[in-house]
Amino acid sequence: MIEEYWGLKEKPFSNTPDTRFLYRTGEFEEALARLLYNIKEIGGGLTVITGEIGSGKTFLAFALMEKLKEEGYPVALITNPTFSPTGLLREMAYSFGLEKVPRYRMQILKLLREFLEKNGKVGVLIIDEAQILKPSLLEEIRLLLNLETPKTKLLQIVLFGQPELKKKINRMPQVRQRINVRYHLGPMDEEETEGYILHRLKVAGCTRRIFTVDAIKEIHRYSGGIPRVVNNLAQNALFVGYVQEKNEIDAEIIKDVAADLEMEEEERRRKGR
Ligand SMILES: Nc1ncnc2c1ncn2[C@@H]1O[C@H](COP(=O)(O)OP(=O)(O)OP(=O)(O)O)[C@@H](O)[C@H]1O
Ligand SMILES: [Mg+2]
Repeated sequence: MIEEYWGLKEKPFSNTPDTRFLYRTGEFEEALARLLYNIKEIGGGLTVITGEIGSGKTFLAFALMEKLKEEGYPVALITNPTFSPTGLLREMAYSFGLEKVPRYRMQILKLLREFLEKNGKVGVLIIDEAQILKPSLLEEIRLLLNLETPKTKLLQIVLFGQPELKKKINRMPQVRQRINVRYHLGPMDEEETEGYILHRLKVAGCTRRIFTVDAIKEIHRYSGGIPRVVNNLAQNALFVGYVQEKNEIDAEIIKDVAADLEMEEEERRRKGR
């Protein structure tokens, strides 16, 4: 209904990692380029990507996975790493597409090694929400980095997590030393927020201007350039505009929506910092 009203074919601002909506901000491009370079040209180490809540880490993880799969890399993605160390190995084996995964640690490791050895390209294990990893799992991850042949490393591990992941890793020097790339995914600037909104609308089938320039400025101000917050504001604004039978979304609507989402506090706090 709402989409029809605005002449859209689908919801433009869903909080899902649907890479059809991918918008390449400077930060996103740099993170992806560094990840790909490290995996393809160096291969076999630990990469840590951090970013604030809602900054696009999961989205980046999915985009990375798609790109690597296209190029024939074996990829395992784990999105909720709450396993025992052996459980992590098992989950990883299943995620690589292996079947009949055995029960015991040594057997699973043997299976993984055989799989990775016969695959010409370095295997990539991506772990999202890595800030919740227990020290025992970080230790298992470190051990996994030792999967290698005399000539090459067999596994690259990429951790995505909220900023506290850094502190967690810093407390474990044996893990910290294995990191070869770190990147912090920053927020979008005002221009990028505009590009982001227009891009998502276009993918959803939009052919005209819906958000005024001032509305976009307001969205950027309230959201601080965090994609999930931009999505929430823009999606709610489309709803309010529809209810009020508006022809366009202006700054006033954004202010109302932000007030409804109780965001003024957040913005004030950020400014005070
Ligand atoms: N580069 C991008 N292009 C298009 N949409 C994006 C991009 N980055 C993020 N988004 C949108 O923002 C939403 C929130 O991003 P995401 O879930 O990746 O954040 P996160 O950093 O993983 O958050 P959390 O810390 O809560 O896990 C995504 O579902 C997606 O809709
Ligand atoms: Mg996430």
